Amino acid sequence: MSLVTINKIEQGMVLGEDLKDRDDRFLLPSGTNLTARHIKMLKMWGVIEANIEGIAQEDVEDNAISKIDPATIEMAEKIVRGRFRYSNTDHPAIQVLFRFCTLQKAREMQSDNPKQNAEFHDRSENNVETIELPELKSAKIDFNKLIQRHILKLPTLPMIFSRINKTILKPDSSADEIGRIISKDTSLSARLLKIVNSAFYGFPSRIDSISRAVAIIGTKPLSSLASGVTVVDMFKNVPSDIVNMKSFWKHSIACGVNARLIASYQGIQNTERLFLSGLLHDIGRLVLYNYAPDHSAYALAKVKRTNVMLSKVEYEDLDFDHAEIGGLLLKKWKLPVLIEHAVTYHHSPQKSQYLLEAAIVHLADIMANAAGIGSSGECFVPPLDLDAWECMGLSTNILDLTIKQANHHIEEIFKFFCSNEN
Ligand SMILES: [Fe+2]
Ligand SMILES: [Fe+2]
Repeated sequence: MSLVTINKIEQGMVLGEDLKDRDDRFLLPSGTNLTARHIKMLKMWGVIEANIEGIAQEDVEDNAISKIDPATIEMAEKIVRGRFRYSNTDHPAIQVLFRFCTLQKAREMQSDNPKQNAEFHDRSENNVETIELPELKSAKIDFNKLIQRHILKLPTLPMIFSRINKTILKPDSSADEIGRIISKDTSLSARLLKIVNSAFYGFPSRIDSISRAVAIIGTKPLSSLASGVTVVDMFKNVPSDIVNMKSFWKHSIACGVNARLIASYQGIQNTERLFLSGLLHDIGRLVLYNYAPDHSAYALAKVKRTNVMLSKVEYEDLDFDHAEIGGLLLKKWKLPVLIEHAVTYHHSPQKSQYLLEAAIVHLADIMANAAGIGSSGECFVPPLDLDAWECMGLSTNILDLTIKQANHHIEEIFKFFCSNEN
């Protein structure tokens, strides 16, 4: 008997023990021979795994792998191992992600139209790109000077953003008041309504006005979403020769979607705060790409030549990394401290006084990098912090389930955030 992820459970499988939901409510007795209707209901109830008699998770995966040509699996595994070179592949969570990514890569290689995405370049041992390192015109960047020169001069968020925030902080502010402020910005309102009506939110009936959105979703979650839309709008057309902006925001949205899903497993009320933290986690890189382009181009080339992680190269060459810059920017914008900390410590969650939030964004980023959906410049899956993993108390079974769920929604959310139509 073994715990099997819900999306690998098939009809005819038999429950090895009583099945309960997340709130410990009894759902089905041990010995139930699962039908298609049972499985559909389990998915509706949000069950992520079940103990199945006479079967192990590995058997299900082996079955999936056995349908693919072994040479393709071997090639996919080599490429994925290159991306995971800084991860401990003995850790159960990383094992799940590694297997998932290998299978995904192998299926993609076998398809008629394999994606040639740069995120899945073969970075296995000794396979470095022989590209020239650009010449550095300026000496090492002084962190304080960069902050003084650029971060302090970075555009402030539009007036509407501070008005929403001020209203939320007022103890006597009403949902109506916030609804009225957001409604005045028709473009923002239209975008927010599209997002909250998407399949990702899955509300049973259509939300057709901001006042209704405030009532259903709540003031703080809706204002987090409004902040996300505002920030992406500010940065989405920033020209960058260094990074593909579409790829950057895909990675950011993937991290946000993963973080929101993990937060919901943790029973966190305001999951939008985690979505926003994930969405903005690498925003410091955009600051570096725009205000220190020479050093950024140098760092990215160095990563490709040496197969060293970008965050490490940033530290070696700059003495600071994108996470610190991002945190400073969010502080300047007076975003909630939980979001600022989650961004600042997404690569070092153990240093945050809010470990859980930082841990969720840390894991969400690892999953987004592992799945290879877009990239903020990093070529490798960042290593998993053990304390962060422990503090979340998650089952490894939610990992591939979350990535699959997220994959359904990323394109749609990306379109709402990044289209220029609004
Ligand atoms: Fe990062
Ligand atoms: Fe990232």
